[in-house]
Amino acid sequence: MAEAIFVLTGAGISAESGLETFRDEGGLWSKVSVEDVATPEGFSRNPSLVYDFYNQRRKRLSEVSPNQAHLALAELERSGRLLTLVTQNVDDLHERAGSRKVIHMHGELKRVLCLKCGKSKAWDKDLGPRDACPSCGGGLRPDVVWFGEVPYRLGDIERHLGAASVFVSIGTSGTVYPAAGMLRTAKMNGARTVEINLVPTTRHSGDVDEGYYGPASKAVPKWVESVMAAGER
Ligand code: OAD
Repeated sequence: MAEAIFVLTGAGISAESGLETFRDEGGLWSKVSVEDVATPEGFSRNPSLVYDFYNQRRKRLSEVSPNQAHLALAELERSGRLLTLVTQNVDDLHERAGSRKVIHMHGELKRVLCLKCGKSKAWDKDLGPRDACPSCGGGLRPDVVWFGEVPYRLGDIERHLGAASVFVSIGTSGTVYPAAGMLRTAKMNGARTVEINLVPTTRHSGDVDEGYYGPASKAVPKWVESVMAAGER
């Protein structure tokens, strides 16, 4: 039977493209406070700080490109073996590499959410308090899931988790739930589990069947090659 591969990615896959991770040494959460820029309360307290933080990240995104890891996952999708690609990342590097089956469970830097009508719209410029929703005129916020908010498309994700024969975690510390619990759920559902990271993550150690350790730009293409080779035998 053909493999049904569920891929979960985190900030580590985009690190070599030049985007900072959150919890590695010198990462984003050592420079700014999560409470200030990634909670609804922080946004109510100081919207300018939050707009600026995401404006800078959106601008940075326009200066970087997908790396070999993103490209290898797009190739895997074209081969027909990918069930879904769930990312915690708010960047668009998977799409720019050619991936189509992407679920952005934590939202997207290049989208905004209307505070009045709740609609999400594509947005690629700076965002500020004077910008208004094209549909209803309401205020806008980044369409990024903050702490205390519910990630997107959990129903679809759960369905895919139940159908996966292989679960692959790439470049994530496995700290933030519900994403952090997916590897174990997939394993309990009978999937083979693979971890790709710079280093083994202690959080998943007992549940990982196979590990590829090293920079994602090398380790992900290596794993994709092994999947392709197994399919050709
Ligand atoms: P973290 O910063 O927590 O973890 C990054 C992981 O990437 C670590 O396990 C690193 O070892 C690994 N890593 C770093 N460079 C790498 C490389 N070149 N190749 C392979 N692996 C590498 O980032 P996430 O796990 O993605 O949520 O964080 C999860 C969520 O926490 C984010 O989506 C964000 C954050 O708060 C929200 O904003 C809601």
